[in-house]
Amino acid sequence: MATSKKIYFYPVWLRIWHGLNALGIVILIVTGISLQNIESSFIGFNSAINLHNISGVVVTLGYLIFFVGNIITNNSKYYIVKPKGFIKRPLKQIYYYMWGMFHNMKAPYPLSEKRKFNPLQKYFYIIVMYLVVPMVIITGFALLFPEIIIENVYNLSGVFVTAIFHSALGFFISIFLIIHLYVATIGKSPIDNFKSIFNGWH
Ligand code: HEM
Repeated sequence: MATSKKIYFYPVWLRIWHGLNALGIVILIVTGISLQNIESSFIGFNSAINLHNISGVVVTLGYLIFFVGNIITNNSKYYIVKPKGFIKRPLKQIYYYMWGMFHNMKAPYPLSEKRKFNPLQKYFYIIVMYLVVPMVIITGFALLFPEIIIENVYNLSGVFVTAIFHSALGFFISIFLIIHLYVATIGKSPIDNFKSIFNGWH
């Protein structure tokens, strides 16, 4: 950040969504992995299924808070992408993460009241929140009610294709989470951003 002025970036509704989402997704990842390797799992099959389904519902309800909250508050302005510098701006941020930040370069896009996310972070948040999470929710509910899934896709079972797609999306979210946690440690101090998502103030 360019100055030490405090900015209220994370209103209560956003923190409630984020808390539900973070907890729910972590449980979904752990139980999802258990369901893939049920013989070596430390949770039984039934507990893993039940926990996975309940967390899926929690993440879905949380997602509604995020979606509606972003429509009715001005948080959505941070998710708007401008065509100017569409490729150049995130590339500049990648260069900073890979080289600049280890060589005392200044962050190319310091946060301010107008800019909560750097361009690369914004792209990732948009992809995850408006594409991957909705798709994982839709495929998850389809697997919960398999009778709504079409029977065959070419000569593969529709349930099988949906399950593969659902797992691949879950894998993407797991990788996103690892990167998200690492990037969140980049700040004035490694715990600064974590404090912000708890108390709202950056
Ligand atoms: C243990 C789990 C998690 C922790 C500790 C965590 C931590 C954080 C922190 C510190 C921030 C504020 C700084 C920043 O924007 O980088 C943040 C924001 C955010 N996180 Fe997470 N996160 C977690 C899980 C997730 C998951 C699973 C998702 C999505 C699937 C997610 C999506 C987001 C989004 C979209 C924001 C920005 C929200 C906004 O300001 O509009 N987080 N998270």
